[in-house]
Amino acid sequence: MATRTVQVLFSLLLLLSSCVLASTYGSDRAKKRCHMECRGTPEGRRRKECVRQCLDHSGREREHGEVAEGGRRERNPYFFGDRSYEQWSRSEHGRFEVLERFARRSELLVGVENYRLAVMEAEPETFIMPRHWDAEEVFYVMEGRGTITLLHENNRETHDIKRGDIIWIPAGAIVYAINKARNEKLRVAILLHPISTPGHVEEFYGAAGRNPETFFASFSDEVLEAAFDTPSEKLERLFEKQRRGEFIKMTEEQMRALSQSTGEGGWPLARSTEPYNLLQNRPSHSNEHGQLHEVGANEYQQLQDLDVDVSIANISERSMMAPNYNSLSTKLAMVVQGRGYIEMACPSRSGESRRSEETTESEPQQRVLYRTVRSRVSRGSVFVIPAGHPVAAVAARNENLEVLFFGVRAAQNRNYYLAGRNNVLNRLDREAKELAFGVPAEEVDEVLHAQPESVFLPGPERRREAERGRQPSPESLLSFAES
Ligand SMILES: *[C@@H]1O[C@H](CO)[C@@H](O)[C@H](O)[C@H]1NC(C)=O
Repeated sequence: MATRTVQVLFSLLLLLSSCVLASTYGSDRAKKRCHMECRGTPEGRRRKECVRQCLDHSGREREHGEVAEGGRRERNPYFFGDRSYEQWSRSEHGRFEVLERFARRSELLVGVENYRLAVMEAEPETFIMPRHWDAEEVFYVMEGRGTITLLHENNRETHDIKRGDIIWIPAGAIVYAINKARNEKLRVAILLHPISTPGHVEEFYGAAGRNPETFFASFSDEVLEAAFDTPSEKLERLFEKQRRGEFIKMTEEQMRALSQSTGEGGWPLARSTEPYNLLQNRPSHSNEHGQLHEVGANEYQQLQDLDVDVSIANISERSMMAPNYNSLSTKLAMVVQGRGYIEMACPSRSGESRRSEETTESEPQQRVLYRTVRSRVSRGSVFVIPAGHPVAAVAARNENLEVLFFGVRAAQNRNYYLAGRNNVLNRLDREAKELAFGVPAEEVDEVLHAQPESVFLPGPERRREAERGRQPSPESLLSFAES
């Protein structure tokens, strides 16, 4: 009798704890399972508590970038939302925002500590003030068109830029740009690789005044007078006038003149800063569920020193990018357009063991290896995908999800897909399949071969729809009759 009670209590405990565990997986299935399992709990307070926990955890997940782990609330260190940007400047004509340092929140991201991401957005017919950074940069034009001008030691280069362009900007080059569109924003994502202090970037304005503040104002009058061989009254006039900020509305003539600017003499750079259009090259993967455009140092040599590659995934609405991981690269992903969610399997930091009551030799102790990190993402969201971490991205309804990836440590990187026709697990030996999964190889193959697409797949919602469209199978009719 006593043993029976203990058994009942134990299975009750198991049910309750699996509720909590299931919720950490965050998927709809886990939610459903949680509710199902609650049904096994005796009616009354316990069941209510169980259901409440299921709801609680799925609700928690709705919050941007929060993950529930074993019922504990925790910030997701891989996700950066709107509030993670520091506004460096903002006016009615544009804004420049720099994402907080990756490693500020969590030591998990020290590997990419020395990279920063920023977004620059200029309204139509706007001039973006000249400046240089103590960083090497890669620009990606997310939206709009304009021109960009770079001043190097001995020359000036001006390039037209449009959506899809990548431009490498050497450290120290003075950069200015214009948005020459009449009714379209110019929106640029910037990867910065700081030179002097890891993780810290600074901007330097020379040709400026009070706002933005010119660094010339930091020199003493006597040094400036001597340097320019000009009396200080004249210098003051030059360096104190500008107060209009970093984004300035242009007149028609100014715009026309600036957009016709061409390069100017001197020594050509060893490496041209000519932009490269990512969207005009052939996608490396393309089907009705999405396209992937990739560029590395082979196609755009300028990326070589930085050891960075750039790619764009354009995931069709309600489609998904197959689970995959990168061998060496950590990907800094930024949502250019659209909404959706990203799921990633992350090593569980606690490394705790789940002790089973009856550990037998055939069932050794089980370790909790992973936790799910899931984030809803929208325009501007940033998500860090460390090397080796399996990740999948799903696009929401009605809108494609466009994701920009800067991959650091790109040179020897390999990408492994974990589902679909190019699933790397298909290459397991037959015996290895049986040993690894503990089921006959045919059963393994049945699952691994079921998905006919690769890289871009129908997402969960499309699949549910397709399922509903299918005729009910004789089996399901039978089980219905039996119940
Ligand atoms: C993504 O696909 C949509 C629909 O096919 C298209 O309108 C959009 O321009 C694409 N975006 C990119 C960046 O290729």
